[in-house]
Amino acid sequence: MANTLNTEHFWMPFTANRQFKARPRMLVAASGMHYTTDDGRQILDGTAGLWCVNAGHGHPKITAAIQHQAATMDYAPLFQMGHPKVFEAASALVSIAPEGLNRVFFCNDGSEAVDTALKIALAYHRVRGDGLRTRLIGRERGYHGVGFGGIAVGGIAGNRKQFGPTLAGVDHLRHPLDIARNAFSKGLPEHGAEMADELEQRMLALHDPATVAAVIVEPIQGSAGVILPPKGYLQKLRSICDKYGILLIFDEVITGFGRLGTAFAADFFGVVPDMITCAKGLTNAAVPMGAVIVRQDIHDAFMDASPEGAIEFFHGYTYTGHPLASAAMVATMDVYKEEGLFDRAASMAPHFENAAHSLKGLPCVKDVRNLGLVCGIELEGVPGKPTARAFDVFLKCFWEKNVLIRTTGDIIALSPPLIIDEQQINQLFKAIADILKSQKAVPELQAAAV
Ligand SMILES: Cc1ncc(COP(=O)(O)O)c(C=O)c1O
Repeated sequence: MANTLNTEHFWMPFTANRQFKARPRMLVAASGMHYTTDDGRQILDGTAGLWCVNAGHGHPKITAAIQHQAATMDYAPLFQMGHPKVFEAASALVSIAPEGLNRVFFCNDGSEAVDTALKIALAYHRVRGDGLRTRLIGRERGYHGVGFGGIAVGGIAGNRKQFGPTLAGVDHLRHPLDIARNAFSKGLPEHGAEMADELEQRMLALHDPATVAAVIVEPIQGSAGVILPPKGYLQKLRSICDKYGILLIFDEVITGFGRLGTAFAADFFGVVPDMITCAKGLTNAAVPMGAVIVRQDIHDAFMDASPEGAIEFFHGYTYTGHPLASAAMVATMDVYKEEGLFDRAASMAPHFENAAHSLKGLPCVKDVRNLGLVCGIELEGVPGKPTARAFDVFLKCFWEKNVLIRTTGDIIALSPPLIIDEQQINQLFKAIADILKSQKAVPELQAAAV
């Protein structure tokens, strides 16, 4: 198919377009733990697509729910109208959310969830008469999608530099990755909780806490290469936010829905934020959907501030709570519960951890870090060619080992579907180990992505 398909018109996202089109990597079908390629190979999915197909590909129950909904009602507007599935979906999500977070705003993906949460935070302070709170604080190397709000609070330089100043009034905490002190930590790193103190000592001292609306963090920084919070770090952020009346938003777009063996990372860490953004595993990625789960009193502040009959929050999307997404979501929540997939992830995590750390000592491996079913393998880069080493491993895993991994910079990030079994975990890490063993200090790379 790759030979006859015209690939010139589609401008691919976050892709080296010219390089891809020179030798396309085409996926044509998917089932369970595997993709099928256009040349008929079965590829083990080490990344759950893009951290999103938590229940495995093509789950029949989710597929049937989407088919049924499409045949019943394709679309209904939710501006001043309703349809039952979206209310059912909100209740299903609340049933697994941390206590107190029981109001849900739906959107279409993680980027919209982040922008929605930032808008709720700003508007919440304003409806309470605290409109001075307009600043937002994110983190270096944070990824919060690609909307203007998300790239403003996000801290990945490459995602920002083409687009000018984005939002005003945004500042960033340092990220807590500290390989010098924490290399090859199993689970949460020991060192670095004090980095949370800079929220109070540096950010709030500089800006005046009374001007800060919200702090947004990923409990685990995923897209920038699996950066784990040191023990006690998130607890500190929570207590500083509480002290100064600042909202804490957890961006759980990748950590939600079992990735750490609990419904949300908030449950794993025992830290309840004021809002959670989520997407991806929300519908098992079968139909795009995002959501913001909000503390009830935040929602109620909007209700209380507006006269009866007035619209309380001027925000929403044509496809908010789309019937197909809502149906997929309800079915996905059922699947997670019926198949006990969050517990399954927790029970696989020790084997996954051991397999990941078996890479220690192989050529070019600088660090391995892991939690739940997430793992980052940081490689020594090729001098003068950032990203080239990891991308070379990615290509060889795909073409030679039939395994899909993901790379960011010179870091391999793994996040398989929660249905992965021990033998597949072994296959995944053995493939990476084999490729790493053939890496040279200054290799001849198959295709350097610069
Ligand atoms: C933490 C986080 N927030 C937001 C997003 C953006 O989600 P989407 O690509 O669905 O817009 C992502 C995507 O990977 C993410 O990891």
